[in-house]
Amino acid sequence: MRLKGKHIVLGITGSIAAYKAAYLLRGLVKEGAEVQVVMTPAAKEFITPVTMSALSGKPVASEFFSANDGTWHSHVDMGLWADLMVIAPATTATIGKMARGIADNLLITTYLSAKCPVMVAPAMDLDMFQHPANLANLEIIRSYGNLIIEPGEGALASGLHGKGRMEEPENIVEEIVRFFSQKKKLLNRHFLVTAGPTYEKIDPVRFIGNYSTGKMGYAIANELAAYGAKVTLISGPVNIKNVNPEINVIPGESAQLMHSLCMDIFPLVDGAVMCAAVADFTPESYSESKVKRGKDDLIIRMKPTKDIAGDLGKIKTDKQILVGFALETNDELNNAYSKLQRKNLDFIVLNSMNDAGAGFGFDTNKITMIGKDNKPAFFELKSKTEVAHDIVAKIISEMESNNLLQE
Ligand code: CTP
Repeated sequence: MRLKGKHIVLGITGSIAAYKAAYLLRGLVKEGAEVQVVMTPAAKEFITPVTMSALSGKPVASEFFSANDGTWHSHVDMGLWADLMVIAPATTATIGKMARGIADNLLITTYLSAKCPVMVAPAMDLDMFQHPANLANLEIIRSYGNLIIEPGEGALASGLHGKGRMEEPENIVEEIVRFFSQKKKLLNRHFLVTAGPTYEKIDPVRFIGNYSTGKMGYAIANELAAYGAKVTLISGPVNIKNVNPEINVIPGESAQLMHSLCMDIFPLVDGAVMCAAVADFTPESYSESKVKRGKDDLIIRMKPTKDIAGDLGKIKTDKQILVGFALETNDELNNAYSKLQRKNLDFIVLNSMNDAGAGFGFDTNKITMIGKDNKPAFFELKSKTEVAHDIVAKIISEMESNNLLQE
């Protein structure tokens, strides 16, 4: 009975996977949760409210008003009652409505009123899942702090094969159990995260930069916030608009600015994750006016920047955790391990440029985590959100084994 006393609103939308919601509901009730089911009108075409009310032991909420006596079904009360809202299956249409606040059914009004965390398990055909509209809406709801339970790959109801299958109910139950046991793990803890590239200015219109998009660092910041941590994110120039509003984002365009911000903030935090692709060199001088075309070659002399992670490593106390990244092209494990030692990191996350789908710009990443014991832990290619989950899980376990998470 790992969910005893928990109040869960289970939202069901119109997908073939709605039948799985019955198994999910049964699993939640078995674990002791009290579950209020909310169905969209379309969901009732796929599974009957009778099944769901029998399994939950409560009438299903679906309409704004009861047809018999005009009683108002209060989405506000449901939203306040719940410790967690789980929308499974969530169709593309529902995800879109959640993203934009289109409150045309009781499920969406409940979602908009909910004060509790929200988990969303998408279920749809692979082309619908991959459509930029759907991916953009998922990003938007993620930025509201909603937790996405990634769909799996496999046979789809359409006969196609690919990503879009709703996660299996027993795995969602486990996810929910984990959520309740973990969600306060980092409450009252403060983390510093760096993300994105740096731009090193040459003149008012030119800079030297790199291809980092910031996606990995932003995913880590979101994940830390989901565990209840306070997060300060020092961000290089990126094009990510949807950020969890709880996260304090401070722009740090250049290596120098990022360095001074990090040095100021680090003494105040419990941990730092250095995800930014910081320039190693910056132009020795800055031209106040635009450099003009000439007949001769243009030579820009570069000087080394300060190593932010390395400098934080020098002032790190044994009450703090410091995590770095290494993007390598060759002799990856040795290079990463020597970086870990040189910068006094607790562990390092290695990306290899030789792995397809890993590195700058992708929505996926393939990492290896190496701790002070120099025993690499290899991970599969996953979405950056899932990778962030793995990294934060490692942070929590490191902090626990160093007794840093006791009150
Ligand atoms: N890093 C940093 N400040 C720098 C350079 C890097 O904080 N000026 C951090 C990165 O955010 C990352 C780690 O150090 O967490 C390793 O970055 P990387 O560029 O791989 O290492 P470098 O020390 O720059 O070594 P090299 O580029 O020679 O491989």
